[in-house]
This record gives sequence, structure tokens and C-alpha cells, in this order.
Amino acid sequence: MAAIAKAAASLSFLQALIVPHDLSSFSDTSCLVKHFYGSYPEGLSMRNLYIPDLACLATLPDTLASSSLGPKATIMPSQDHSLVWLYKQDVDADLVMDHPTLNDVLSKLRSAPSYACSGDTTGAQVPLSGSTRCDQPSYEVLSQTQNSTLLSLHVQTARTIDTILPPFWQSSIIPSSPLTRIPVPDNSVAHIKDLLAKLKFNPIIAAIVEDISVPQMRNDIRYLTGEDSTSEIVSRHSLASGSRVAAAWLKERFEDTGATCQLKRFLEGYAPNVVCRYASATNTTSTILLSAHYDSRGSFGSTRAPGGDDDGSGTTSLLAMARAIARNNVTFNTNVELVAFAGEEQGLLGSRAYARELRSVDANLTLMIQADMLAYHKPGEPAQLGLPAYIGTPEVANLVANVSALYSPELTVGITYACCSDHQSFHEQGFAATQVFERAGPIADPMYHNSGDLSERKGYDLEQVKSIAKVQLATLLHAAGFTV
Ligand SMILES: *[C@@H]1O[C@H](CO)[C@@H](O)[C@H](O)[C@H]1NC(C)=O
Ligand SMILES: *[C@@H]1O[C@H](CO)[C@@H](O)[C@H](O)[C@H]1NC(C)=O
Ligand SMILES: *[C@@H]1O[C@H](CO)[C@@H](O)[C@H](O)[C@H]1NC(C)=O
Ligand SMILES: *[C@@H]1O[C@H](CO)[C@@H](O)[C@H](O)[C@H]1NC(C)=O
Ligand SMILES: *[C@@H]1O[C@H](CO)[C@@H](O)[C@H](O)[C@H]1NC(C)=O
Ligand SMILES: [Zn+2]
Repeated sequence: MAAIAKAAASLSFLQALIVPHDLSSFSDTSCLVKHFYGSYPEGLSMRNLYIPDLACLATLPDTLASSSLGPKATIMPSQDHSLVWLYKQDVDADLVMDHPTLNDVLSKLRSAPSYACSGDTTGAQVPLSGSTRCDQPSYEVLSQTQNSTLLSLHVQTARTIDTILPPFWQSSIIPSSPLTRIPVPDNSVAHIKDLLAKLKFNPIIAAIVEDISVPQMRNDIRYLTGEDSTSEIVSRHSLASGSRVAAAWLKERFEDTGATCQLKRFLEGYAPNVVCRYASATNTTSTILLSAHYDSRGSFGSTRAPGGDDDGSGTTSLLAMARAIARNNVTFNTNVELVAFAGEEQGLLGSRAYARELRSVDANLTLMIQADMLAYHKPGEPAQLGLPAYIGTPEVANLVANVSALYSPELTVGITYACCSDHQSFHEQGFAATQVFERAGPIADPMYHNSGDLSERKGYDLEQVKSIAKVQLATLLHAAGFTV
């Protein structure tokens, strides 16, 4: 039986449908919802990836399955290959950089297997682990447009592809099983609207958020980047040992503030998620989650992946909030989770695992805010707060913008097209979520995904990190309810 089923599976081709994200009539087509594999950037817009089984495909109207809805790709399911979406980030025009084309990137990738098989880890951000077959084809292009492509790669190459990409090219491993796409329910959105309607400046909240300490953030970020000489962290790449050091260090620091923390493993070989919790003072299931990702990426060929901005800054803001919560003896009327994710750089792997886990137990997660890249703005520009153009719950972004006007009026608030961070994992699972980002515009940090992403450099602004952390913490205090 099993052998026959396996043989049949290996013979069947699947059809990937890559369709515009906002084509809701298509997205809602019933059977497709169960064959959703995530949303991915394509230039300045988003695409949804569906891989329907043959039964589902047969029910789709011809117009939907037609190529007018985007490139189609034929997929051969395989145990030792992963699908990867490779895309170019939206980058500020002033950033003086080589802009490698997709073909440049693909030709670089052609040498990936020999790199992976040589066992030569000199200069790599991450040691390669496990046995690697060296006779595998490097990759297969399943679908391609100017600034994005869907590839099939050997699993080992997929795990480390980010270490050989140029900085503004990002890879995202496609989940091996479908994500059931769940819309954020109306009552969750109504709850957020209600919070906004009741929002009013509170001097106690202002005093607590003002207590966030920039000198302490400076110490924390220097430890995470390894700029602090007592830190043994060289790389926080998810597969590097430094990320384990960082996870243990974060757990201890959060626990010092009265939180209960767990290191939650989600995939073999990857550093764990650091999940910390303050239990509610009242008997409620309601939970609010603030997060960042502590893993990072460096330059090809370098051992260093300091991630001072991406996302040491968001991680430091979480820790700064925890320290302010403890110093001010805050207790919450809602459960609060502060989570530092790993595996973000390989495609939101840690957050997808955790969001799926919370959905599987029907967690009453009422609000989720991810902080990813908070520190950099172009020299001469004002301090800013960017909110996501595509991914997330617009009502949550509105709430955050209104909180910003009350508690961090120094921030210029706007929209960013820089895409994709861990809030997406929660939004996909039907939780109200948004992201906070450093610019009301595209990525402008010249050290993005670079081994020079340190905290002591021009444009790296801890005052801006504090301003954004004030917004995160004030939103939490308003939404959770608290006593001091
Ligand atoms: C691809 O990127 C280039 C350079 O960043 C840009 O000029 C072009 O418009 C993009 N193409 C699409 C289809 O988004
Ligand atoms: C908390 O509330 C639930 C449901 O409202 C109830 O079943 C439970 O007994 C309560 N627990 C405590 C400790 O009051
Ligand atoms: C979830 O929490 C909210 C309070 O934020 C509450 O109104 C709601 O009843 C809770 N839902 C469940 C299913 O417990
Ligand atoms: C917090 O509680 C500690 C111990 O009870 C106390 O010493 C401290 O003054 C309190 N801090 C604030 C800001 O209330
Ligand atoms: C506050 O939220 C409202 C939506 O209720 C929105 O129209 C407005 O622009 C927001 N204010 C700020 C300062 O972002
Ligand atoms: Zn990031």
C-alpha cells in the first residue's frame, strides 16, 4: 500500500499558482484556501502562492487557472528538495550599490553546491552541517519574473542560500505543508477599533515609556553584535553557534525582569525561539504578543553577522521594554508575551512555527506587533516610524500611528514597502498584527544584510529606537490594561 502511494506521489506533478495578493475573489475560492503556501514580494507588489492538489485544481474555473493570473509552475514533489522564493527588496534610490540582476544571482547560485560540498567553511557566517550529496543539480527555476523567482533547491542549499546572496536579494523557504489561510475575524478587528476609539493620553503610561533607557540599550546592542569585547558572539545567523549564545543570554535577561521564558526549538539545526511571558493579574485567556527576530545575516564570505540594525535593534527594543516594565513594577491585566524569533532570514521559519502552534490551540491572541529594523535613518532625515503597506491588519497600523502621535510626536509616521517580517506569520493565521520599521519609505541602510551592520556608525540612531519602543510599549499598556 505505502509503496504504491509513494510511487503515485512521485509520479504526480503539481501546479503552482502565483496570483496577485489582492485578488480576493480568487484567494477566497474555497479549496484554494487549504492549499495556501504564503505571500511573497514581487517588485512593489505581493503574490500569493497556491499549490492545489489535482482535485482542487479541477474545480477551478479555467479563467483562474489561466496564465493571465500570473506565471504557473509545474512542481515535482521531492523529499530532498525545498521550494524557495527569491526576491529583490525595495531599496532607496540613493543607496550607492551594485544592483545584481536575477540572472547574476542565479549564476552565483550555480556554484552553491560546490561551496556547500567543499566542507570549506572558512569565512562563512555559518558552518555547514550534516551530510551533503555533491552530485545534486544546483537548482531548477520553476517560475521567473524580473525581480523574483520560484526555485526548487536541494534542502541543504535552501538552508544556507541566504549566506551567498547579495544583500538586497532575500530568500524565503516555502513551507513544506500548506498554511491554511485564515482571515482576521471581524470581532478581532472590532476589538482593535474599540481600543483606538478609547485611546486617550495617559500620563502614567507616558512616564513608564519615557523610562526606557538609551544607555542600557547601547550596552545590550553591543553585546548582541559582539562590539562589546566581553561578548563571544560573532554571528547570530540561525545556524551559527552565536545565535545559541544570544538565545541563552536573552532568556536570562528577560527572566531578570520577572518573565517566564522558554527556548522553543522549531527545526533541527536552527537556533530556538525565545518565548517569554508575563502572566495576567486577572483570569483571562487574552494575550498580546510583541516580537522581533534575533537571528541575522552577514556578507558573503565573512564570519561576522552582527545584525545591529537587522534585527538587533528590534530585539533590543523588546529587552528595553521588559526592563522598563520591571523597573516600574508593571503588572498586566492581559497575558503578555515578548518573543525573539529565529529563522526569520530563511523565510519566517520560527514565527511560522509559533503562529501555527498558537492557532492549533486557538490561542486568544488579540494583538501582535513585530519590530524589525528600528535604528537606521538617512543622516539628516528626521526620526521615523514606518508601517507596512501590504502585510498586516490596517486597523492595528492605525492604532499604532495614533499611539505614536500621543507618546512619540517626534516621529514622522508613514508607509513602507519594505516587506516581510514575522508579523506576516501571525496575520496569515488570522491574528491581528502589524510591524514597526525604521523608515517611512524603502530600506536605506547601506549595511543591510552586511557584516558591517554594527551599532556604532553613522545613521544608527538609538534615540529613534527609543521613540519606536515607546510606541510599542504604550500600545501594549493601553491594550493590555495594567497596574503599577
Ligand atoms: C525590478 O527592479 C528594478 C530595479 O530595482 C526596477 O526598476 C523594476 O521596475 C522592477 N521590476 C518590477 C517588475 O517590479
Ligand atoms: C478562570 O476563568 C475560567 C473561565 O471563565 C474558569 O473556568 C476558571 O475556574 C477561572 N479560574 C480561576 C482561578 O478563577
Ligand atoms: C479573548 O479576549 C478578549 C479580551 O481581550 C475577550 O473579550 C474574549 O472573550 C476572549 N475570547 C475567548 C474565546 O476567550
Ligand atoms: C518597585 O517595587 C520595588 C520593590 O517593592 C520598590 O523598591 C520600587 O520603588 C518600586 N518602583 C517603582 C517605580 O514604583
Ligand atoms: C488615527 O486613526 C484614524 C483611523 O481611525 C486614522 O484616520 C488617522 O490617520 C490616525 N491618526 C494618525 C495620527 O495616524
Ligand atoms: Zn529583519
